[in-house]
Amino acid sequence: MRMVDMIAKKRDGGELTTEEIRFLVEGYTSGSIPDYQMSAWAMAVLFRGMTARETGDLTLAMAGSGEQLDLSSLSGVKVDKHSTGGVGDKTTLVVAPLVAAAGIPVAKMSGRGLGYSGGTIDKLESFSGFQVERTREQFLQQVHDIGVSVIGQSGNLTPADKKLYALRDVTATVEAVPLIASSIMSKKIAAGADAILLDVKVGKGAFMKNLEQAETLARAMVDIGSQVGRKTVAVISDMNQPLGFAVGNALEVKEAIETLAGKGPRDLTELVLAIGARMLLLGGLVATVEEGRGKLEEIMASGKAVDKLAEMVEAQGGDKEEVYNLEKLPKATLLHAITAKQDGFITDIDAEAVGHASVVLGAGRLTKEMAIDLAVGLVLHKKRGDQVQAGETLVTVHANQEQLLQSALQELEGAFQISDIPPGKQTLIYKIVE
Ligand code: URA
Repeated sequence: MRMVDMIAKKRDGGELTTEEIRFLVEGYTSGSIPDYQMSAWAMAVLFRGMTARETGDLTLAMAGSGEQLDLSSLSGVKVDKHSTGGVGDKTTLVVAPLVAAAGIPVAKMSGRGLGYSGGTIDKLESFSGFQVERTREQFLQQVHDIGVSVIGQSGNLTPADKKLYALRDVTATVEAVPLIASSIMSKKIAAGADAILLDVKVGKGAFMKNLEQAETLARAMVDIGSQVGRKTVAVISDMNQPLGFAVGNALEVKEAIETLAGKGPRDLTELVLAIGARMLLLGGLVATVEEGRGKLEEIMASGKAVDKLAEMVEAQGGDKEEVYNLEKLPKATLLHAITAKQDGFITDIDAEAVGHASVVLGAGRLTKEMAIDLAVGLVLHKKRGDQVQAGETLVTVHANQEQLLQSALQELEGAFQISDIPPGKQTLIYKIVE
């Protein structure tokens, strides 16, 4: 087999065989296929696409390119959850302990944030002493003992994806839907999930800017799941405005804990219940989404969801008192309120601008090596559709350095749109793809 023939085949709109795709992934991972040939092939895929069969083969080949986690020692259906990322997206912090408290084992590997999408692992480090690096044995033992563990990506999982993703990033081929779908799904499969719940974000603060793109991606991932025997459901949710009120690591942790106690923002609570209920359904714990929601609402109200997070924090070396006393979490020193200049209704909050402001403050990183400030970020006081009066606070900026605060304020210029006319109805969940 010759890589040049596979590039030509894809360039001319042909379909690669399973053996050819395996050859390509193995060759690229081992280094026998060079970057220039792989980038030519990725560009051909961008223009020509891949069939569902090819995409499934690529996913399995990438999932098998390195270590794979074996969760079979844990009883029950292991349901993983993945978000394509957004501003203020703290869903995993809530969903993981919540569904674990309901009886679904959660063995989750999460990432660090890059750009304006925060990472769950960074957020969890807001708890002093919290360990995100665990051995396989510690990870599995914890899930066995308390039903939940969330750790950083460890080991040599999907090296083919790591290499290909870095190449796509610098060859303008990230946008190819079969490549995004196989990249995400290969990681989920290598992480050992039996079933997968995907939260595909759409809007200004998301990777997918319109519903059509988001649906195409969701469909591609759900199809891969069914091809490789992992039941997959995708929720397509809004990311035009930040999710919840808080953006920034410790600030989001606080909001996640309030949500676990049933006292969170309406949109975050709604999304968490929609995702969590479907995870219970995928795990065979309930017969309908409504039954799942009811169960999760009861668990929130009983305090068991907060207790489950506290157990997880303690098991991973953190201070569980911080779960019950939010004042103990990291706090910024400078608070600055941005106020409304006129009366009216909030018609738009630019999620991307809010995300950029949080990065400028130090809550996110622009390169993998950058250190972040866990305390800083923003807390919205109003959301789209809310009525405001001139002088009312729209958002409080939490900063630790005056200069960074000023830069963040510049980013936020024009981020809030106010009009005399209320906006149309806000949709939070556009579609379920299954
Ligand atoms: N996230 C991934 O993990 N892979 C992609 O290709 C795009 C987003």
